[in-house]
Amino acid sequence: MNVIVFASRKGGSGKSTLAAHLAAHVHKATKPCLLIDADPQGSLTLWHKLRGTNEPLLKTATRSVGELVAAAKRDGIEWVFIDTPPTVAPVVEDAIRNATMVIIPARPGVFDVNAVQETILSCRAARKPYAVVINGAPAPRDEVESRIVTLAREALAKFRAPVWTGQITNRADLLLALGHGEGAKEYSPDGRAASEIGRLWAAIERSVKAIRGAGTGNGAMHKAA
Ligand SMILES: Nc1ncnc2c1ncn2[C@@H]1O[C@H](COP(=O)(O)OP(=O)(O)O)[C@@H](O)[C@H]1O
Ligand SMILES: [Mg+2]
Repeated sequence: MNVIVFASRKGGSGKSTLAAHLAAHVHKATKPCLLIDADPQGSLTLWHKLRGTNEPLLKTATRSVGELVAAAKRDGIEWVFIDTPPTVAPVVEDAIRNATMVIIPARPGVFDVNAVQETILSCRAARKPYAVVINGAPAPRDEVESRIVTLAREALAKFRAPVWTGQITNRADLLLALGHGEGAKEYSPDGRAASEIGRLWAAIERSVKAIRGAGTGNGAMHKAA
């Protein structure tokens, strides 16, 4: 079982959005996922209610996630996705301690990029692999990424943050899908949003394989702490 934790001290960076879209992308009856909403704001819980299918399963956590993670393992869950609040609440550190890998979403702005450092320190302290994912970015033009995305990458490189080479573009489809309780692929299977979420998932899988010692490490985006 693998545990993917979405963490960043910046509200609005895309933790809940990525957790919901990736879970919808991955969940199959044969490969069950569990969502853990550890944010009292309850964004993921709201999406799950709108979804109305109870699949993937969702549990809420206020103080710790360890017991939920252990139970998921016993139940044969393959992937656990944990959404966390943008605070210093102990549940964030607890989630990171239970992570296979931590995803740190960041919008491509100066303040946003700078704010990932605190979460990186938490990952390093817990010796957990992590990667930054640029989210809410302007769309690429003719397959060339926007200047502000390039600048964000340069800033992240300065503090040696591992960053996914792709981006999740700011797309209405991602929002509209959430409003229907869906993931990007369910909402518009051939859309660009679905294709970016699919690519992000492939990168996470490559990293997790490498972390588990099962892959070549080629294309892995994380840094082991
Ligand atoms: N790539 C994106 N495209 C469009 N809207 C986005 C994108 N990422 C996030 N949003 C929207 O921005 C807001 C904040 O995102 P959210 O996932 O709630 O951030 P966090 O959980 O980190 O606080 C939400 O309304 C969300 O749907
Ligand atoms: Mg959130």
